[in-house]
Amino acid sequence: MTKSESGTATISYNGSDLDVSVIEGSENEKALDISKLRGTTGLITLDEGYVNTGNTTSGITFLNGEKGILRYRGYPIEQLAAHCDFVEVSYLLIYGKLPNDEELNAFRESIRNHTMIHEDMKSFYDGFPKDAHPMAILSSVVGALSTFYQDSLDPQNAEQVEVSIHRLLAKLPTIAAYSYKKSTGQPFMYPQNHLSYCENFLRMMFAVPSMDYEVDPVFAEALNLLLICHADHEQNCSTATVRIVGSSNANLFASISAGICALWGPLHGGANEACVNMLQRIADDGGNVKKYVDMAKDKKDNFRLMGFGHRVYKNFDPRATIIKQACDRLLNRLNLDDPLFDVAQRLEEVALKDDYFVERKLYPNVDFYSGIIYRAMGLPTQMFTVMFAIGRLPGWIAHWVEMHQSPTNRIGRPRQVYTGPTERDVVPMSQR
Ligand code: ACO
Repeated sequence: MTKSESGTATISYNGSDLDVSVIEGSENEKALDISKLRGTTGLITLDEGYVNTGNTTSGITFLNGEKGILRYRGYPIEQLAAHCDFVEVSYLLIYGKLPNDEELNAFRESIRNHTMIHEDMKSFYDGFPKDAHPMAILSSVVGALSTFYQDSLDPQNAEQVEVSIHRLLAKLPTIAAYSYKKSTGQPFMYPQNHLSYCENFLRMMFAVPSMDYEVDPVFAEALNLLLICHADHEQNCSTATVRIVGSSNANLFASISAGICALWGPLHGGANEACVNMLQRIADDGGNVKKYVDMAKDKKDNFRLMGFGHRVYKNFDPRATIIKQACDRLLNRLNLDDPLFDVAQRLEEVALKDDYFVERKLYPNVDFYSGIIYRAMGLPTQMFTVMFAIGRLPGWIAHWVEMHQSPTNRIGRPRQVYTGPTERDVVPMSQR
């Protein structure tokens, strides 16, 4: 992790000057270090949506929105997607280096040892309504892990953190698959530890005890790629949530459960579900993509093109490029003709030529094509964001660990500019 000072900037206020350091990261990103601002001037900064605010320094993921660059620990996403599997990338994100053979095998083995969930946890699923959203189940059951593993909740104890990391990586696919089984009424399938991470998940999702089931390697490969593409994305809404919850010294399970809730929203991870629902709506409405592009442009209409636009990417989202190619390959290999893929391609074509989208630099994001792949695998729409959560888990963990290891870590506690009433007296009830 390289951070250096590269000069100073001066803030003038009320006749006096404050020199603030300009901090420079390893990719020459610059930031004003305003840690002394309030103490010296009484001022705070106001930056709704944190558009200009760095929450932390971080050595995990670098992205450049103008150039469409995404790298985990320095490695380009394109290379990781081409050469690695998801467990390997998880190791990279969490421990900061690509594992050698021995390290990776030990990591895989340990994860395999933890894939089952406590039998008593299965009873939670009886209490959820059949139509419960699997993201709600996921966050609840992950939060409940802290009731089962009370021996490993101390964020300051490295051994406890380590076992919690392995438990989470191992159990999240099981918890997720059980939430799907609950919705179908089928029996839960125990994990099979000789299978790979992705194969195991697909089997727990789609196998039934009464029949043999063979995992389609094409699906396992596509899933592996999608999970890698989702594995980290620096200070996004859910990761920032995990960090802020963790900053209070809440345990890892509680912090990750909060991250899952943040991811669920349609402006974040929930966009993949919302995107496929939107494509279906357009297809059902005759496939007139121009009509929906016009609706998205109309400021009186709150409709937005889901899967379009990104806070940081203003050129293209490199993950979307990888996923679109994978989507194309998968549909060809399976000889599938998904009408929603056709709608998506036409929508992209029209939007990318439209001045509104060009001027605002709105491009397809990671969620635009991922849903088509999940559909091809037979995953129900409600599970799409759950898939995102499984992918993002190592990134959340890596940030939580990095935060706790930082000597400058403090509880996350933003300030505000108060705009409510000034002091006033309570009027007794009889006089109101
Ligand atoms: N469709 C139509 N117009 C859009 C869209 C869209 N998808 N996205 C942004 N805009 C417009 C806004 O209306 C705004 O226009 P204006 O300048 O005329 O007011 C301008 O583009 C800037 O948009 P903001 O909402 O200010 O951008 P912000 O950075 O706050 O939001 C976001 C980014 C939330 C991703 C937004 O683009 C969006 O809502 N996209 C659709 C949801 C989505 O796909 N989310 C997934 C993001 S990726 C991820 O989280 C995994």
